[in-house]
Amino acid sequence: MKIAKSVNRLGTEAVYNIFAETKKLGEQGKEIIDLSLGQSDFKSPSHAVEAAIQALKDGHHGYTLPTGMIECRVAVSRKIKNLYKANIDPERIVIMPGGKPTMSFAISFFGESGGEIIYPDPGFPIYESMIKYTGAKAIPYNLTIRENFSIDVDNILSLINENTRLLIINNPHNPSGSLTEKGTIDQLAEGLKNFPNVMILCDEIYDRLIFDKKDIPTFFNYPELYNRLIILNGWSKTYAMTGWRLGWGVWPESLIEHVHKFCVNNHSCVNTAAQYGAIAAMDGPEDHLNDMMNEFTIRRKLILDGLRSLKGVECGLPGGSFFVFPNVKGTRMSGEEFTEKCLQEAGVAMVPGTAFGKFATDHVRFNFATSRENISKAIEKIDKILK
Ligand SMILES: Cc1ncc(COP(=O)(O)O)c(C=O)c1O
Repeated sequence: MKIAKSVNRLGTEAVYNIFAETKKLGEQGKEIIDLSLGQSDFKSPSHAVEAAIQALKDGHHGYTLPTGMIECRVAVSRKIKNLYKANIDPERIVIMPGGKPTMSFAISFFGESGGEIIYPDPGFPIYESMIKYTGAKAIPYNLTIRENFSIDVDNILSLINENTRLLIINNPHNPSGSLTEKGTIDQLAEGLKNFPNVMILCDEIYDRLIFDKKDIPTFFNYPELYNRLIILNGWSKTYAMTGWRLGWGVWPESLIEHVHKFCVNNHSCVNTAAQYGAIAAMDGPEDHLNDMMNEFTIRRKLILDGLRSLKGVECGLPGGSFFVFPNVKGTRMSGEEFTEKCLQEAGVAMVPGTAFGKFATDHVRFNFATSRENISKAIEKIDKILK
């Protein structure tokens, strides 16, 4: 068998290996507290669930248009208007099976041999994986604990050259939970005006999970960039709907026909009943999201206090998402060693910083979208093995 070279260049998400390992340990009867996977323990909003069930009962079981049901695209457009005060034609909105396809489509559109794509490290691993798959050169920008993992505008702009095709931004940021505030994003947007050939993919999937009532630093604030801006978002994190596989992207008008073709070649359309649920989630009350954020605020403090009480562990305050990304150098273990020891000896699963690139070797990522009881127990167990 001669498999295409490009397939061998694909990376993966180590979190799925950890997920499989924790499942295996669980089946062997070991009690595991899983703080690894990037999803909330909240249930999806009941009005979304009811709408999807009703859609199936009403016989909505056929294909929809490849770029999404028009009602769903209109619902997203309405929400964008409400949240970000931006007027986006529903024709520019594409419904996808999750947030990820917007990312892989965008990288496929601009990645090829000879081109360069700039992306965050640490960062969501699929950016680097897909860049390498396309044959483009992957150019990381290092986010550091010194800046609490927020974006350094000068550093990013200094990496742009005549080969740069695409710049990827993720804010709020996975894995660190950092939030780069609007003032800095304003500066970045201003700087990018000097590079009109560079496309921008802004991954804003955690934008509704922002703490302390800070403004959403969205790229929708810059209409002058719309002709080269792709915004990735979706239902997974905001509405606790990861398994529904629902996302949306906003694309420049000139790319829609290409996105349409990719959808047709790739998945035909997004699950129809799920799109009915998606509309209900967008149009419905936000009590579910507010309750979730109130609870996450309590859990953020709980895990932060717990981690900071551990010998050799330092942790910054996350401004968004449901992740904390402590530095464990003081334990004299690397992030990978710490992860392995915690899983095997304490039964606590997390993800090492190296799952997100080559720079964050001393870090580990915890997901705190789990019960307070789980968080307290995890900290106790880690404390015991560190002592
Ligand atoms: C930064 C980031 N972007 C995109 C995604 C993909 O989201 P989805 O599960 O909707 O495909 C994730 C999921 O973990 C993420 O962390």
